[in-house]
Amino acid sequence: MKVDRRAFLGSAGAASLAAWGRSPLGQPPERNRLKLGLIGCGWWGTGLLKAAYQVGGVETVALCDVDSAHLDAVAQEVASLQEGRRPAAFKDYCELLALPELEAVIIATPPQWHALQFLEACRRQLHIYCEKPLSHDVREGQKMVEAADANPKVIQIGFQRRQSASVRQAAEFIRSGGAGNIVQVEAQIHYQAEIPDTTIQDPPPTLDWDAWCGPAPLLPYRPSIGHFAWRLEAEYGNGHLVDWGIHWIDAVRNVLQLRMPRQVQSAGGIRLLEGKITTPDTLNVSWDFGGLPVFWRHRIWGAAEYTPETSNGIFFFGDKATVFVDDRRWEVIPRERGARREVHEVPDEQDPRLLHVAEFLEAVQTGGGVSCPVREAFQSTTTVHLAMIAYRTQSVVRWHPVAQEIEDNPEAAKLLLRRYRSPWVHPAEAV
Ligand SMILES: NC(=O)c1ccc[n+]([C@@H]2O[C@H](COP(=O)([O-])OP(=O)(O)OC[C@H]3O[C@@H](n4cnc5c(N)ncnc54)[C@H](O)[C@@H]3O)[C@@H](O)[C@H]2O)c1
Repeated sequence: MKVDRRAFLGSAGAASLAAWGRSPLGQPPERNRLKLGLIGCGWWGTGLLKAAYQVGGVETVALCDVDSAHLDAVAQEVASLQEGRRPAAFKDYCELLALPELEAVIIATPPQWHALQFLEACRRQLHIYCEKPLSHDVREGQKMVEAADANPKVIQIGFQRRQSASVRQAAEFIRSGGAGNIVQVEAQIHYQAEIPDTTIQDPPPTLDWDAWCGPAPLLPYRPSIGHFAWRLEAEYGNGHLVDWGIHWIDAVRNVLQLRMPRQVQSAGGIRLLEGKITTPDTLNVSWDFGGLPVFWRHRIWGAAEYTPETSNGIFFFGDKATVFVDDRRWEVIPRERGARREVHEVPDEQDPRLLHVAEFLEAVQTGGGVSCPVREAFQSTTTVHLAMIAYRTQSVVRWHPVAQEIEDNPEAAKLLLRRYRSPWVHPAEAV
C-alpha cells in the first residue's frame, strides 16, 4: 500500500472523487494489501470501511456483527469490491481477532462494547481504528491506555474533527494569538431529537439482542434503544454530550492544547422526553480547566435557536476577538465596536472522516503518527464522563490529574466504574 498523503489530502474533492472501491491511488496486488477486519457493521462502521477503500491498499478479510442482516449486507458489498472475495463472517469478535492473517481492525460497535474489543485487539497486537467515545466508563479507559502502551502498533481513535479544515484554520488563528488571550469557551449542540418507537417488543429476528447488550444491562428491546437509536440510553450511549458533544469538547481540548479539567458541575434533566430517554434532554455543564471556564449546553427539544447558525459549534472568547467555529465555517468577531466580522467559509471538499482513516492507514505503512492517539481520546472521553457523573450525583466533581481519581467525593468516585453483566468481567476487576 502506498498512500501519498500530501497528494491525497491535498486533492480537492477527495471525498467525492472515489466511489466505493475506486481508490484514487490505485490498488496494489492483493498480497500487499493491508488485511483488515471490521467489528460492528452498522451505519458508521460501514462508512469507515468505505473510506478505507477510497484510500486504497486494503483487503477486508473478516467482518463481525451480532445482527446477521448487517453482516450479510456488508459482506456482499465488500465482495463486490474484491473481485468477488467474500470476507469471513463472525458473530463473536474474539473469533475475528484470532484470525492469523488479520493485521488491522476497525471497531465501530456501540460504546458499551468498545473496551473489551479494544483490549482483545491490543492483546493480539493489531493496528486499531476505534470509534469514540473511547470507553463507557473511566476505569475502562484507564485500562485501554495501559493496553495501548503495551501494543506497538498504530492506534487511531475516531475524533475525526481533528482533521476538519474549519477547526484547523480556527486553531491556527487562535494559537497565533489572533483572538488574544482566550478567557472563556462555550460549546453547544441544540437539535430536536426524534425518538423512535418506545414500545417493548421482540428484537428483529436477525439481531441477537443479548449479545448486542453484552456487558451492559439487558434492557427489554424497543427500537428507541436499538440500532443507531442507543445514543440517548444511559446504559449504552450515555447521552447527547457523550455521543455528539464529545466531538466539540475534543476540539476545544485540541485547539487550546488542554489536558484535563480540575473541576466540573452539571445541571439539567429530562424535561420534555421523560419516559422516552434516560439521559438529560437539557444539560448545562461548566468545567474548570485550570482557571479557564469551558461551558457545554444542549437542549434537544423545543423551538429553533434565536441564532440557529450557531446552534452546533464552539465560541472561543478572547480579549481581542471572539471566534466561532463549526464544521463548515469559522468567524472572527473583533472586539472593536462596529468592526466587520470576518467569515471564513470552508467548503466541505475534504471529508474529515476520510482524512482520519487515510492518516491511520498511512501511519500503518510508514510508522508515522496519528492525530488522535489513545491518551488524547481518554482525556476527552473522561472529560465528558466526569460531567455526566457530576450530573448524576448533583455534586461538584474534582479530578486529580496525577492520581487520576475523583477527589473527596466517594459517591461520584463509585461511578468511575460500572457493573458488568455476567459472564463479562470489567477489565479493572479482572484478576
Ligand atoms: N466519529 C463519528 O463522528 C461517529 C459518528 C457516528 C458513530 N460513531 C461511533 O461509531 C460506533 C457505531 O455507531 P453507529 O452509528 O454505526 O451504530 P449502529 O447501531 O448503526 O451500528 C453498530 C453496529 O454494531 C453491531 N454490534 C453491536 N454489538 C456488537 C458486537 N458485540 N460485536 C459485533 N457487532 C456488534 C450492531 O449490531 C450494529 O450493526 C459508535 O461508537 C459511535 O459512537 C462515530
